Amino acid sequence: MDFRSDNITGAHPRIMEALVRANRQRAATPYGGDEITERLQARVRAVFEHDRLVAFPVVTGTAANALSLACIAPPWGAVFCHPQAHVLVDEANAPEFYGAGLKLVAIPGPAGKLDIATLGKMAGAGGRGVHNPEPSAVSISQASECGTTWQPDEIRALAETCRSQTMRLHMDGTRFANSLAFVGCSPPELSWKAGVDVLCLGASKNGALAAELAIFFDPAMAGEFERRRKRGGHLLSKMRFVSTQLEAYLDDDLWLANARHANGMAQRLGGGLAALPGCRLLYPIEANEIFVALPDAIDAALKRAGAKYHPWPGERPGEHAYRFVTAFDTDQTEVDSLVVAARTARAA
Ligand SMILES: Cc1ncc(COP(=O)(O)O)c(C=O)c1O
Repeated sequence: MDFRSDNITGAHPRIMEALVRANRQRAATPYGGDEITERLQARVRAVFEHDRLVAFPVVTGTAANALSLACIAPPWGAVFCHPQAHVLVDEANAPEFYGAGLKLVAIPGPAGKLDIATLGKMAGAGGRGVHNPEPSAVSISQASECGTTWQPDEIRALAETCRSQTMRLHMDGTRFANSLAFVGCSPPELSWKAGVDVLCLGASKNGALAAELAIFFDPAMAGEFERRRKRGGHLLSKMRFVSTQLEAYLDDDLWLANARHANGMAQRLGGGLAALPGCRLLYPIEANEIFVALPDAIDAALKRAGAKYHPWPGERPGEHAYRFVTAFDTDQTEVDSLVVAARTARAA
């Protein structure tokens, strides 16, 4: 019963098969000049119904985020994000490092989503002179760090504020597939059609071994990505092994099937826990993460039963909260065993 994260998993068998197939090829042009990487470009354009986008494979979400933010914000730029944003608190200042001085500025808001009105005020408040950080971009996480999903109309409203302040919109889509499966719309509706300029599409947490994709819907914004990726040490010479994972990920909608499974397990787990007296969901479950306050007796019973999950800051005084994450390979029996262990605690 391990619900610590969605990166405790292995890779999906179809991703591993794709790697084995790619390995049969005796020779392939290095550094992304290979056939698989070329095919992947065409595939991503088809999936996102956009014939001009450019997509760059990398192997970590941090690299995708930091390198793409550096392309859309100058060293003197400000990038606005939620106080809990991974780019702000979990990337060891990689965006500032690759951005050569760009500044991440926190904008609070409920349930992991920055408040658009506050953003408008903050971005408009500072001067735009030589002394001031230049409001350059906004970064949101899909799904958010609270497991909530930005709906297309919310993204559109945010994008309008960005446009009115000449800022670009970056989406850290580490769990984009989970949000997409939750909303049930098309990939373009949750990205460029809603106003997203750059999407960092995650795959490692949803079935890949190590693969992420920085997608620029306006190729003019991506001008420097390739050099930055090389200079930052993120250009793999055997790129085909990253590209093949992403191709397999999109093939026959594997990404969506994986995300649907993870989301379904999250609903089952969250629903089971929330039904117990004293348990409270902190946020609605809109992807594959569950944030829940538990009575100490239930926490103790779950730990005794061998369940693994992380503590999380509560929202109310004295509240003990925890995060559970489900994944593409979460076993339903593990979810049910966890809920049974929690129920037993209440009965005891
Ligand atoms: C929301 C979010 N963004 C980005 C990342 C970065 O991924 P990586 O660990 O591959 O750098 C993570 C990883 O946990 C994440 O949860």
